[in-house]
Amino acid sequence: MTHDIEHFIQALPKVELHLHIEGSLEPELMFDLAHRNGVALPYDSVEEIRAAYQFGNLQEFLDLYYQGMAVLRTRQDFQDLTRAYLDRVARDNVRHVEIFFDPQGHTERGVPFAETIEGILDALEEGERDLGITSGLILSILRHLPEADALKTLEAALPYRECLLGLGLDSSEVGHPPSKFTRVFEKARGLGLKVMAHAGEEGPPAYVWEALDLLKVDRIDHGNRSLEDPALVDRLVAEGMTLTVCPLSNHKLCVVEDLAQHPLKRMLDLGLKVTVNSDDPSYFGGYLGDNYRAVAQALDLSRVDLAQLASNGIEGAFLTPERKAALLDELNGHLARG
Ligand code: ADE
Ligand code: ZN
Repeated sequence: MTHDIEHFIQALPKVELHLHIEGSLEPELMFDLAHRNGVALPYDSVEEIRAAYQFGNLQEFLDLYYQGMAVLRTRQDFQDLTRAYLDRVARDNVRHVEIFFDPQGHTERGVPFAETIEGILDALEEGERDLGITSGLILSILRHLPEADALKTLEAALPYRECLLGLGLDSSEVGHPPSKFTRVFEKARGLGLKVMAHAGEEGPPAYVWEALDLLKVDRIDHGNRSLEDPALVDRLVAEGMTLTVCPLSNHKLCVVEDLAQHPLKRMLDLGLKVTVNSDDPSYFGGYLGDNYRAVAQALDLSRVDLAQLASNGIEGAFLTPERKAALLDELNGHLARG
């Protein structure tokens, strides 16, 4: 990659719409928190943890992701985790983030909902104050758990309604279709939350249709397998539906064999509103800027493509009109300077 494109990407004002905060837990912090909280880890070193991050599919990743979370116990832990993520992406000129958290991954270990959400909110507030990064927080439902569990979690979130941007759906996709959560999503929409769901990462196009028709989502997370169904592609294009694509994640989880075969460019050319995101950067080997750099190189993307991806991110974000206009101004300023 030329130095020029590298510089262009670095200075591009970027937005991240698909990031699991627990997936930003770096092995160093995992060790520190394990020590702080007296939690035993099945690893002796940071190197050993990194070496374990080889995945053949989504479930192999999820098993380690849930295991890693065990070190997160207190409000301070969640604040430290979130602050570390914001400090890292600030260096890549990330200007706005909409992040997921998985409260069920913590409440089932006895960590109160309040500890988790308040720690994350503390850091998001600091991030806006100290780094100028605006943010939204999305409560994500673990789809491998029963519907009743999801309803209970949404109930627990009610006192924090005003602090939440939306409701998401993640974890093991195949065998847990969106239809399992129709009532939960109906409730969330009734509360005025934005709604989104992971769909078409490993699951079939039918799951994307269900996310649209039954959950009535505002955004699709991943959505790669939509390409197998031309009628679905037409629908997504016609609706201007944002897809939060995660290139390094797709590679690490074997959704694509090789980054050079990643469908991102094809999706752009079809007129899909695709965005670039990091998903779980600690586990997949790169933050948002790394994802931009990786696809720019592997797919030989032009500045026009990269600007379109950044612009799709701003347009797909749930921002006030003022903040959206300000970010588009930043982007246009960057493009004008070349
Ligand atoms: N949880 C964290 N990352 C995820 C992903 N890529 N897919 C499903 N669930 C997840
Ligand atoms: Zn994800």
